[in-house]
Amino acid sequence: MDMKSEINLRAEAIEAILKKYLPAEEGYQKQIMEAMNYSILAGGKRLRPMLMQETYRLFGGQSEVIEPFMAAMEMIHTYSLVHDDLPAMDNDEYRRGKKTTHAIYGEAMGILAGDALLNFAFETATKAFEMEPENANIGKALRILATKAGIYGMIGGQVVDVASEGTTDMTKEKLDFIYRLKTGALMEASMLIGAVLAGATKSEQQIVEQVAGEIGLAFQIQDDILDVTSTEEVLGKPIGSDEKNQKFTYVTFEGLEKAKVDVAAITKQAVSHMNQLVVRNEFLNELLVYLIAREK
Ligand code: IPE
Ligand code: IPE
Ligand code: MG
Ligand code: MG
Ligand code: MG
Repeated sequence: MDMKSEINLRAEAIEAILKKYLPAEEGYQKQIMEAMNYSILAGGKRLRPMLMQETYRLFGGQSEVIEPFMAAMEMIHTYSLVHDDLPAMDNDEYRRGKKTTHAIYGEAMGILAGDALLNFAFETATKAFEMEPENANIGKALRILATKAGIYGMIGGQVVDVASEGTTDMTKEKLDFIYRLKTGALMEASMLIGAVLAGATKSEQQIVEQVAGEIGLAFQIQDDILDVTSTEEVLGKPIGSDEKNQKFTYVTFEGLEKAKVDVAAITKQAVSHMNQLVVRNEFLNELLVYLIAREK
């Protein structure tokens, strides 16, 4: 089977898991559940839960305890997108091939839907305690989820990204900081939680975190490239969003060709770091390489 079909099969299986954990649309507040479910079910590559599940498998994990964490991760990622698209942030109208959440439900509901997804992510992840009350790794995984999503992780990166709009004093170091946090941190959380829940050793966890950070960096550079080279039809979100918002991106900093070369080089480095591990997951290795050439 080719890689694209393999990935699609896994994404479908992940969606079935996600659906198990989504809230019922009921009660006086049902509008918020509708907006949450709309945002999550609009589509998306499901890359973060996929990385989590495959890293869990890499270290021999076999329990269902990974599932609430996979769902929680996709909820946090989706909340970050819902807020990223708000008028006060990137002000974008399309996401995952559909109207953005605020464009459908209004700005106030867009803000609340993001808040709700973030909170519901933790309500969901803590279900793991009911599945395996004796499993001490669940608390560790929860701490990773909280930290990597916060001011030392994704939010921290988004803050510097927004604060740097329109500035001209960007440095390579600051750009790397933004990418490693706004995008890398959730990749790190995904793979690290998979490793921790499967019982990987401390040194294995370190390698996994490094690999995920590199993949996050390469992934965001590719996202910047596609913002310039792709089309809205293929991408499912507007192109030219970075230019519109006067973002200083890797592409404006290094140029398109260098950016492409660097995505491949950083990914290659990540794969070689991955190969330091004695355990191996062929699909995971191929997935990392596949991301270099992704079209959306
Ligand atoms: C988009 O992430 C935001 C970035 C970090 C570049 P994805 O490209 O994984 O978005 P979906 O989940 O597939 O929609
Ligand atoms: C956002 O980066 C990364 C997040 C943490 C949401 P972008 O603003 O480039 O993401 P897109 O291009 O809107 O998906
Ligand atoms: Mg943004
Ligand atoms: Mg954006
Ligand atoms: Mg982008």
